[in-house]
Amino acid sequence: MAFSQAFLDELNARNPIEDVVGQYVALTRRGSNLFGLCPFHSEKTPSFSVAPDKGIYYCFGCHKGGGPVSFIMEIEGLDYPDAVRFLAQRAGMEVPEDSEYRSAYKEQERLRTLCKDAARYFHQQLNGPAGQPGRDYLARRGLSRTTVTRFGLGFAPDSWSSLLDTMTKMGYTKEELLKVGLVQKNQKGSLHDRFHNRLMFPIIDVRGNVIGFGGRVMDDSKPKYLNSPESVIFNKRKNLFALNVAKKSKQGHIILTEGYMDAISLHQYGFDCAVASLGTALTEEHAQLLAKYTNQVILTYDGDEAGQNATSRAIPMLEKAGLQVKILRMQGAKDPDEFLKKYGADKFRVLLERSENQAEYRLLSLQSRYDLQQDEQRVAFLREAAELIATFPAPVQREVYGTRAAEAAGITPDAMKLEVDRAYQRRKKQAQKRQEQADLNVAAQRQPKDKDLRYTNLRSASAEEQLLAQVLKEPSYLPDIGLLPQQFSSPLLGKAFGLLQQQQQAGRDVSLAALEGEFTREEMSHLTHVLRSHDLLVSEQVMQDCVNVVRSEYQRSLHSGEDALRTWQDRFKDKQRYGG
Ligand code: UTP
Ligand code: MN
Repeated sequence: MAFSQAFLDELNARNPIEDVVGQYVALTRRGSNLFGLCPFHSEKTPSFSVAPDKGIYYCFGCHKGGGPVSFIMEIEGLDYPDAVRFLAQRAGMEVPEDSEYRSAYKEQERLRTLCKDAARYFHQQLNGPAGQPGRDYLARRGLSRTTVTRFGLGFAPDSWSSLLDTMTKMGYTKEELLKVGLVQKNQKGSLHDRFHNRLMFPIIDVRGNVIGFGGRVMDDSKPKYLNSPESVIFNKRKNLFALNVAKKSKQGHIILTEGYMDAISLHQYGFDCAVASLGTALTEEHAQLLAKYTNQVILTYDGDEAGQNATSRAIPMLEKAGLQVKILRMQGAKDPDEFLKKYGADKFRVLLERSENQAEYRLLSLQSRYDLQQDEQRVAFLREAAELIATFPAPVQREVYGTRAAEAAGITPDAMKLEVDRAYQRRKKQAQKRQEQADLNVAAQRQPKDKDLRYTNLRSASAEEQLLAQVLKEPSYLPDIGLLPQQFSSPLLGKAFGLLQQQQQAGRDVSLAALEGEFTREEMSHLTHVLRSHDLLVSEQVMQDCVNVVRSEYQRSLHSGEDALRTWQDRFKDKQRYGG
């Protein structure tokens, strides 16, 4: 969508950069500019600047910069048109929209209003005569009136069409009700309410829109929870239950639970920072969403195996989003809701304070699977612990947890350190191998199309490609490489390398273009392809590694009994017909 220049000028005028940024970053004036801590990278001294006279911001640390629109795109994670709309709304301006956007937006707005009206209806039902079973159930579960109101809980009566009737009377169409999944078609094609005789939990996004529902049965029938299907306004991967409330919390962390009832109970007991996922596993989008509102997440998944597995899967996702992760362990209750009822808020607060960082958590989980009184099990535990600790990136972490594991199993820290170091080295080697394999796969995909040009030694060829591409970008590398063209496994790459060496020795410019006459069209296009696909200049260390690979592969081919040199020369002679 293209907005007119006049509109954008006015938008910028009505959204002064210092005001827009000031809503997210505390700024202090220094001369004509303002400074603050950059919201886009972590820093302790302010390198983020705002220049009101120029209408821009710029970070000297991470080099992000721009005007109000790019700031909003970056910080709110919006695309360009939505960032413009965001700022227009902020300044109370009307957005000139194209008709397609207008109608899609209008439809979504209408569906959101529909869901809000439905939530209102369910809430009224809960408070009315039909809602008695719902109120009884809530009382059994100990939810207060305040909680019920805060979360807008409701009740779907035991009827097949009460919502359908009410909503159509309000002017909503059947299609609209189907679109958000509040009604569904049976096999005969007639419509009925999706939710009946269930306690209703409206799902509200961070902007306060009702986007879907979860409905719980009040006995043991199945499914225990029924949820709205995904729709144009409801994406389970991108929303979390109760985040609309938790985002305002001053706790400095967010408690992530498995269930709606867990989150609600936590709020009732004073933990206003609890959220729940929507009956699905945690996604990367959830992690990114959380990272907008906090930098620490405490996981309180159920203690059962499923919960533990979910915890293991969630940890790396949250860490990838830059979040610090802690894990809360509960004993004597299956979930936070049950724990709070049994032991109260103070005990839960103790658990929160004791929640472990993920390294501790994983080590303790491992430890609990072994009987450390038995020698054989101790050995097995230590071996697995060494493998686990070897995955921790920081040396101090490996040291600290190595010592802990050693103490738990009653051996000396030094003996454990040996084990951990060994496992660490092994992992490093494996990682290198994997990287090499990945490089090989890339080289294999780039195999020249012409059969004659095919690589016979992928490992060497991938290093040769890298070398060639690098010297073309940075000819000053050439004299230090110290390889002979015949040491290359690929005659084509070796020939190119030799010709570049000649260019340089003759004091000419080192370039592929000047070699045009030396190669066939296929060869030339392959060489260009090689050059283009190794885009970045690499370090001298990487260059040296490549040289070593070529050299050792060449040595190996000599020793393998095959007269590689002669083979190469034969093949190279073959190729002479192509070139100078
Ligand atoms: P749980 O089975 O752990 O229930 O499901 P709970 O949270 O302890 O609920 P109560 O205390 O019995 O009321 C955890 C979450 O998994 C999803 C829901 O989001 C629920 O909150 N779920 C569970 C479903 O979507 N469908 C189901 O049938 C069950
Ligand atoms: Mn529960």
